[in-house]
Amino acid sequence: MKLKNNVVLVTGASTGIGKSTAFALAKAGAKVVITYNSSRWGAIAAQKECAKFGHAEILKLNVTSDSSIKNAVKFVQRKFGKLDALVNNAGVGYFAHFDILRRKEIEEMFGVNVIGTMMMSKHFLPMLKQQKESVIVNIASMAGYHVWEDGSVYCPTKWAVRAFTKALAIELPKRIKIYNVNPDRTKTSMGGWQGDDPNDVAEIVVNTIKGTYSKRSGADIDVPNYL
Ligand SMILES: NC(=O)c1ccc[n+]([C@@H]2O[C@H](COP(=O)([O-])OP(=O)(O)OC[C@H]3O[C@@H](n4cnc5c(N)ncnc54)[C@H](OP(=O)(O)O)[C@@H]3O)[C@@H](O)[C@H]2O)c1
Repeated sequence: MKLKNNVVLVTGASTGIGKSTAFALAKAGAKVVITYNSSRWGAIAAQKECAKFGHAEILKLNVTSDSSIKNAVKFVQRKFGKLDALVNNAGVGYFAHFDILRRKEIEEMFGVNVIGTMMMSKHFLPMLKQQKESVIVNIASMAGYHVWEDGSVYCPTKWAVRAFTKALAIELPKRIKIYNVNPDRTKTSMGGWQGDDPNDVAEIVVNTIKGTYSKRSGADIDVPNYL
């Protein structure tokens, strides 16, 4: 899919991989909807950067709230009248031994990483279906293939996202593609500021939307293979 003048919404675009993805999309000519949950100033900074290249909007969006998601659908409809691509990037990770993780943290990880990705897709699909071609990118993780100590809940959330993408790909009409982009450890707050450069991950997200890798819908784009 071409990006010039197409509209792309990125969840969790106030920091980290999402913020880098918003820049990379704007540079590629897309109109970007930068959404944030709590980091308003991060989103404002991202909008300033993106605005150098074209039209960028910011919007508060909590992916665990249906009313917040419905508000985002109305916002995109009002501002642009269409959505060409959705990047489900928002994610939360509490890394600790299972016996000390609390229900609240477990529910938040599943609520944002899994159910948030599902509900965003559900609410935006009617708009995406109106386009001749459209794309959903779910930011899963290489943790969606493996497990490790302190990842007893985070890893299963990413296994679930990968499976969701593959199952939904079977149901969607051919004109809507859906992919997992699976980063390895990345230099963001969640990654403990170690690992791959989030700008490199962002380029891979942009290429995935553009169809550069010629993968069939439902495929995994494992970041380490493309760096
Ligand atoms: N960093 C890594 O090593 C790594 C590796 C593999 C996969 N990933 C995945 O990559 C994605 C981005 O992670 P990151 O490393 O860039 O982490 P990050 O810098 O901590 O960013 C996480 C983003 O998620 C947003 N978010 C959290 N709760 C939300 C909610 N309820 N509603 C909407 N947005 C919410 C945050 O928004 P606010 O700050 O505005 O609240 C923030 O922008 C995540 O899905 C993560 O699991 C990361």
